[in-house]
Amino acid sequence: MTKPRLYSGMQPSADSLHIGNYIGALMQWRDLQESYDAYFSVVDLHALTQPNDPGELREKTRRTAAQYIAAGIEPSRSTLYVQSHVPAHTELAWILSTLTGFGEAGRMTQFKDKSARYGADATNVGLFTYPVLMAADILLYQTDVVPVGDDQKQHIELTRDLAERFNSRYGETFTVPMPVIQRDTARIYDLQNPTAKMSKSAESDAGILGLLDAPSVTAKKIMRAVTDSEGAVRFDREAKPGVSNLLVIYAALTGRQIAALEDEYAGRGYGDFKKDLAQVVVDEFAPVRERALAMLDDPAELDRVLAANAERAAAVADRTLADVYDRIGL
Ligand code: ADP
Ligand code: NA
Repeated sequence: MTKPRLYSGMQPSADSLHIGNYIGALMQWRDLQESYDAYFSVVDLHALTQPNDPGELREKTRRTAAQYIAAGIEPSRSTLYVQSHVPAHTELAWILSTLTGFGEAGRMTQFKDKSARYGADATNVGLFTYPVLMAADILLYQTDVVPVGDDQKQHIELTRDLAERFNSRYGETFTVPMPVIQRDTARIYDLQNPTAKMSKSAESDAGILGLLDAPSVTAKKIMRAVTDSEGAVRFDREAKPGVSNLLVIYAALTGRQIAALEDEYAGRGYGDFKKDLAQVVVDEFAPVRERALAMLDDPAELDRVLAANAERAAAVADRTLADVYDRIGL
């Protein structure tokens, strides 16, 4: 029986991934790779929509891939590759862009937010066509399922529309993918600013738990996490965002229920709770960090793995692209 195909990716936009990426993406990917034929990409072409130093971009790409593997994505089972290593992505993106309405692209809320934030002159056309490249990423692999955060839902809708449009114009070519939206409890907030989503673009990293942080740094960040003056370990996103966020992290990493954690820490202060949580996070991250750093010590071996995986990805992508070219008269 062939497994359904799954596609997901992350931008190489930081040296270290954070615990939001870990809980919201990597842990889920690790489980999903059992039941899906999974493609996990480091989407370096998408990262070009932000200014980048070339040497740093290359390094972040390697580091991101190393962290995927260190977190349990198996490159012998899943296809784990760097987007720019497979030229079919940009080729299909061009074709799909000719099927995308200008107004349709302009309605993407992520583009509207970003262009409003940076201003029209600092906004590049790549940021505008970003969702079309993302559609190409997904459709090249005849993807059945795409696990995404809420913020990407509109992009998946566009991907589905483009697949259906192409299919109805030129004949059945693309699988129309289904989004799987991540659960709310998989969303992690900044430890210093617990109503803001933890994000690598935050101004300070004091509230960001990095997968590659040293254990002492992880512990210190957790001990200093913003809480409240009530002193009760209780889940309440509105009134107690800091404590609730820590409970979500604790539950996600241990597989325990939040209610069970509330019981365990009833009548005890935040100090105990934070100390135990620090241990949980350090126990989870330390082996991942060690594996990632070991891989980064041997970049030639990592590059060899990525090249072999890119070859596997390209074999599938090129088949789709050849079919597309044939159907549209190229
Ligand atoms: P990208 O690299 O694709 O632009 P992000 O860096 O925002 O996107 O996120 C990469 C992945 O990590 C996505 O699957 C996203 O849902 C997940 N993720 C990012 N930040 C968080 C967070 N704070 N909580 C939970 N999941 C997150
Ligand atoms: Na994103």
